[in-house]
Amino acid sequence: MADQDKPSGKMWGGRFSEATAASVEAFSASIQYDARLYHHDIMGSKAHARMLARQQLITEEECEAIINGLTAIEEDIDQGRFEFKSELEDIHMNIEKALTDRIGPAGAKLHTARSRNDQVNLDFRLYLRDQVAEMDTLLASAQSAFVRLARKYLGAIMPGYTHLQRAQPVLVSHHLLAYYEMFKRDRERLQASLQHINVLPLGSAALAGTGLPIDREFVARELGFPAVSANSMDTSGDRDFALEFLFCLNLIHMHLSRLAEELVLWSSKEFDFVRIGDRYCTGSSIMPQKKNPDIPELIRGKSGRVTGALVSLLMTVKGLPLTYNRDLQEDKEPVFDALDTVKASVSIVAELLDNTEFNVERLLDATHGGFMTATDIADYLVCKNMPFRQAHGVVGRIVAHCQQQDMELTELTLAELQEFSQDIEEDIFKVLSVEGSVNSRTSLGGTAIERVTEALQKAEQTLGIK
Ligand code: ARG
Repeated sequence: MADQDKPSGKMWGGRFSEATAASVEAFSASIQYDARLYHHDIMGSKAHARMLARQQLITEEECEAIINGLTAIEEDIDQGRFEFKSELEDIHMNIEKALTDRIGPAGAKLHTARSRNDQVNLDFRLYLRDQVAEMDTLLASAQSAFVRLARKYLGAIMPGYTHLQRAQPVLVSHHLLAYYEMFKRDRERLQASLQHINVLPLGSAALAGTGLPIDREFVARELGFPAVSANSMDTSGDRDFALEFLFCLNLIHMHLSRLAEELVLWSSKEFDFVRIGDRYCTGSSIMPQKKNPDIPELIRGKSGRVTGALVSLLMTVKGLPLTYNRDLQEDKEPVFDALDTVKASVSIVAELLDNTEFNVERLLDATHGGFMTATDIADYLVCKNMPFRQAHGVVGRIVAHCQQQDMELTELTLAELQEFSQDIEEDIFKVLSVEGSVNSRTSLGGTAIERVTEALQKAEQTLGIK
């Protein structure tokens, strides 16, 4: 019986005696969002068809007809000529139906030894594999933007903070390169996620495997998967790879959000550390004077939905008995939304950085209040053989004295300093300047200009800049 002659009109409709309710079709369709998997669905089907022919489950002619038919369908979709139908539920059945309409009975053989359960799992993996590569490129561009700024402002000094209190002076470039490192880890994490994405699920069929003589290793080679999944039941309901990918997206966006928070603070009058270009700010509809950092605010704001996506998928999977359950169709929307959001945020951050200027005088000025070289005096005393705890106490008293007198550390005379410790000598004044402080921090990974210059050169080399 042809599909159209079945009362349900469905490919799976043989055992049904009534047509599906329109409300059920509308409620269960996923084609509105899974259509974006078409390229990968077709890629997977072509590999499957080649395997079926090799295993003599279909003839070479049928295989050729299937492959040519799928190529034509892909072109139709590419060109916007394909009509997706929600009564066909999802991308898999939309394509299969179009294929059968186009090439006849050979099309109906494509689903041999395959279930939509392993098919959708395959499509998702193929799609995410490509997305890892795209994300990597975007992250590299964002890193380059940080590195360009770090090069431009090399030598400029700003306050470094802990608890959002001024702590120790640092190079602006050191601060910027901290983000370079975060995105470096993000890129590594994405690459690592490929280990679990790049496993062939196809051949698990619905849940138990198949009795037909398929060759999963062949399909894996065709699709460039280094591994074949080991347990068909695990595979059928496995979305760990998507969760891991979502977690990677979450860390990326969390890093962007921290940067966004800094840009919002730094562009306030209170800080006045940066100026974001007019093209990247917006105004107020009532307050004519306003120039608002909406882009970083939106980036910060979008973190909620990216986190929500991860939590959503974890919740979807957590209560599912093995193996496939239709709940799993809820896997794609959160992943797609998080992906679109993170890609948009990463792209705009790169532009935003290219249009951000640091207020170098103001940054340096901000290092002068807040006794930021106090640790340097303690370290100086340590070099004079004083135990660090004792030195900490001495400098604490010096700071308290300055606070009472409303003075900066640099304003103290040698005689005044010596009242707190006889170990203090003329050379203390080298230590008290912010430049001296910054450049004394030569430990690996520290903020001294030599260390930061090395880090910057290494980053430029890695990114192929200059
Ligand atoms: N659209 C479904 C999904 O995304 C495909 C698998 C459907 N399988 C099934 N047995 N109904 O999960």
